[in-house]
Order: sequence, then C-alpha cells, then structure tokens
Amino acid sequence: MQHGKRPLRSVDGIDVAASVLARLAPRALRPAIDQLRLDARSIADGFRGVREPTFSSQARPGFAPTPLAEIDPVFELLPTRGLKRSYATLRRDVEMIARDFRGDRVPPTIARARRAPSTTSAPSLAPRRVKVAKLTRETRDAITIRLEALDGAPIVFEAGQFLTLHVPMGREVVRRAYSLSSAPADGYAAVTCKRIERGRVSTHLHEQLREGDVLEVLGPSGTFVPSATTRHLVLIAGGSGITPCWSIARTVLARDPDAHVTLIYGNRSEGDVIFGSAIDALASERFRVVHVLADPSDAHRGPRGMLDRATFDAIASELELDRDLPEYFVCGPGPMMDAVREALLARGVQRARIHEERFQSPAERRAAPVASPQLVTVRRRGRDVAVTVAPDRTVLEAATESGVALPFSCAIGGCAACKCKVVEGEIRMDEPHCLSDAERAEGWVLTCVGHPTRPTTIEVPT
Ligand code: FES
Repeated sequence: MQHGKRPLRSVDGIDVAASVLARLAPRALRPAIDQLRLDARSIADGFRGVREPTFSSQARPGFAPTPLAEIDPVFELLPTRGLKRSYATLRRDVEMIARDFRGDRVPPTIARARRAPSTTSAPSLAPRRVKVAKLTRETRDAITIRLEALDGAPIVFEAGQFLTLHVPMGREVVRRAYSLSSAPADGYAAVTCKRIERGRVSTHLHEQLREGDVLEVLGPSGTFVPSATTRHLVLIAGGSGITPCWSIARTVLARDPDAHVTLIYGNRSEGDVIFGSAIDALASERFRVVHVLADPSDAHRGPRGMLDRATFDAIASELELDRDLPEYFVCGPGPMMDAVREALLARGVQRARIHEERFQSPAERRAAPVASPQLVTVRRRGRDVAVTVAPDRTVLEAATESGVALPFSCAIGGCAACKCKVVEGEIRMDEPHCLSDAERAEGWVLTCVGHPTRPTTIEVPT
C-alpha cells in the first residue's frame, strides 16, 4: 500500500446533483443514488471522450471518483477560490469540534486500529519504533537485519511469525512483511531480506539501510507457527522462504529431544543458500537436510534441478516423508509452493497438515480489476459510513484515503488483522491470503486485499 499519493479527483454537475439528492433522501437510498451517479458519470464521461480508460483500466491507476459523502454542494457552488477556502476552513473546524464532542475524532494520519480485532493470530497493531542494531550479509543478495525496540522491551514472537516493516522511501512509506529468521531462543529479533530483481523495497533496504537507522514495525503477526506439540515436521523452502523455516527448525529441535525435522531447500546454486553453513552444521539424524540446486557445482551430491513437483515427489518417496504423518510447512516462490501442494495432496496428505506462507509485493498479487467503482458501506457498532472503492484500490486503501479508520497490520493479506464480515454484496480478494475456507464460507473477508464487485456492506468486528 502506498502512502502520500492521493488519487486524481474531479467533481461535476452530476456529482453535485447526486450529493444534494442523497442529503434529502432517506439514508437507505444513498447507496443506490451513489451507484446511479457513478453510472451516469461513466456515461457522461464517455460522451465527453474522457471516460476510457477511466474506470476499467490500470492505465490511469491514480484516478478515482470523489466519494459521494465527500462532496459538499455548498462548496462546489461557491464562485471563487477564496470563498471556497474560507468555507472549507470553517467546515473543517466545525467538524472537528463536533467529532471531539462525539469522541470519534479521525486521526490526522493513516488510521491505525485502536483495539485488537478478532483475529486468528492476535497481532499487535501498535507500531513500534525499532533500531537497526546489526546488518549481516548472508549471501551476495541476502542480508539479515537485527532489530532492537527503542523502548528497550524485547520483541516477543513465535517461530514462523513475521514483522511488517514500514520502509520510508522518499515521501512515501511502503510496508513489507518479512519473516523473522531468528528463533525466539536467540533473544533478539531479526529478519532476512533477499534482494529481488527490480524489487523497489528490497533494493532500497540493501543499498540504503544502515546500522543505527530507525524504522517502524507492526507485528509480530502470522499463523505459520507449529503447535507446541508438533514433533514431526517437514519444511520445504525455496530461496528466502528459508527464513521462517530456519526459525521453526531450530525452535522445534531445541524444545523437544524427540522431535524430527526434515528440510528440503531449493536454490539456484551453493552461493544462494541462505544460512548454508549453519544449516549443514546442525544436520543430524534428527535434522535431515536435502539441498536441491538448479545450477550446482560439481561437488554437489544432492538432487539437481528446480524444486518442482517431480523433484519433490522423488525426494518424498525416497525419504518416505509421510511415514510419521508430519506437519508440512511450505514457504517460497509461488510456483514451487503450488507444485509442492499439488504433490502432497496427490500423495494423500490431508490439507490440514499443509501449512503455507507466501509473501509477494502488492503489485504481484492483484486480482483482475472489477469494472467500475463500487460503494462499500462500513458498519461499526451500528453506524454506517460509505466509501467509494475504485477498481484499482482495495477496500482498506479506499477507506484510509477517505479518512475512515479500519483495523489492519500487514496490509498484504497475511495476518487477518483487517478481517471484516460481509453483510450484503460481494468482496473479491486477491490471492494468496491467510483466510481459511471455513472463514470465507462464513463471509469473512480481508479488506487489505479485497475489492467489491457490487455495492457491499461490511461489518467491522468489535
Ligand atoms: S492487514 Fe493483514 S491481512 Fe489484512
């Protein structure tokens, strides 16, 4: 999610007329009036020759119609800029005073949840300021960033969880989730970041981050965490997907002398293996390690090629992976994860024993856009607020841009902190995300990866 960027907006006579009508009509008719306005705008813009590709294309990703609730006909009809400015100042002051009286003043910056919502992982929603205590180069394109909270309190987490870093980049702050690569028993929190080709944030972290820098983090969050009684684990990692797996492996092996862990780890070559020497040093009868290398040196003795379905199947058969009915934890590039999941299901492994963790930047995970802006009514404690969501925005993005505070944490579909229930309508979610099939069947959606396909009402859990 990008901060500091306001979409382009314009208000015309249709918007003003709809705004007047909405103020006079009963509240229940407002969504219908707004939808009519949007349709009328689309048609009118088409006649003016400015419609395409207004609503249906990513070609103008910054365009969004002004939400109906934000249109003030008095403001629009004032004839001069000076009068508009004076009126806007007066209106804002009156609104602030009224909100203070009601006790629900909207914070002046991007909204944070004021309380933890009902989530599967109970993440901390309060951002913490942390210092970069140490930078360690793991491979030519992976660094480990050790973090210390400025308030001196330890960052408490479970093996397999992640932190969402707020990375200042110029005038915007970009959020990215990184799995904790340290284990809780290490006594410190560290994330490991692999530089991604043309990856804005990873490149920035690799080139600009210095020890002593201060960042904000959210979390820890995430449910990619083995239960306290798990004894038999198979970890399947690709590239930087090793980070949560390495934390999990060390934690499970250290806490239970009867635990057995198998790690199947795919990389391009020996030089790309993150934590390679530490992993090999820990390898034992209790910790089986299989390195799969696509382009290895002659010295490599393990499987060669991509960690795809055929390779994984061969390893699974040879090691009789499913003999002890282990829990499978899979983290890595999407194609690898898909191949491993298909292979496991085909081998008869129950879905409940397959745990997956995926992190991709928001641009890589967009679902096909819906055709036109849609109205989402946000219901909280019986009060409704309407937000217009453009096709290229998520519900969370549109709400925060409109000053409507919704809970969130990772903002990339990984923690469930933004979970809301659909009362009416439909929200289509970008994939992947962390909701279970059961949660989706109950009507839960994640606003940070959600796009309405028609006028929709969602309820924020309280
Ligand atoms: S904010 Fe984490 S899933 Fe939406």
